[in-house]
Amino acid sequence: MLFCIKNLFVMELYEGLISRRSIRKYSSEKIDDPKITAIVRAGMYAPSANNKRPWHFIVIDDRSVMTRIMKFHPYSAMLAEASHVIAVCGDEKLENGPGYYKLDCSAATQNILLAAHALGLGAVWLGIEPREQRINALSELLGLPAHIHPLSLVALGIPVNSTSKIPDRFEPQKIRKNKW
Ligand SMILES: Cc1cc2nc3c(=O)[nH]c(=O)nc-3n(C[C@H](O)[C@H](O)[C@H](O)COP(=O)(O)O)c2cc1C
Repeated sequence: MLFCIKNLFVMELYEGLISRRSIRKYSSEKIDDPKITAIVRAGMYAPSANNKRPWHFIVIDDRSVMTRIMKFHPYSAMLAEASHVIAVCGDEKLENGPGYYKLDCSAATQNILLAAHALGLGAVWLGIEPREQRINALSELLGLPAHIHPLSLVALGIPVNSTSKIPDRFEPQKIRKNKW
């Protein structure tokens, strides 16, 4: 569907990316598998350098794994109620060159957040990269091989309160024309 913003006709996607917010409060319901697959699929459609798609997605629904994440991650309290958490990991054997997986997996993480929002689910990005202690702890917990690096976690759940106001974040002073 098309709608109008400041005289521009844009796709519904635009509304989705403006209205997305980090959601950290979930009901105790589980998200069904087709929705989780749709979310991961969206991650796989992110742009990546040279289309290398150097990512792997670990879908976690085991409460004991979530509890162990909460022990080393200081800002992960929402995992106590999350339905799932997805670990987005980069593969240094697949990436376009050293460090590219971080950019590619960040794009995949954003796609996951937007897909969750599009499906009416709550999601929040939990930072792993660049915190070495979190990278090491998560790698050990998930049994990652040495060439696989965790970039982010995305907590997912059915939101209990989905009526959050859209903040005004438009900052025209951060836009320059043709040069600094
Ligand atoms: C790299 C990165 C790391 C983040 N880490 C955490 C985190 O560990 N825990 C958390 O609750 N939110 C985390 N967030 C979410 C931010 O707090 C959130 O995106 C920001 O406050 C803006 O709010 P919004 O997502 O609702 O627009 C992270 C976001 C990014 C991009």
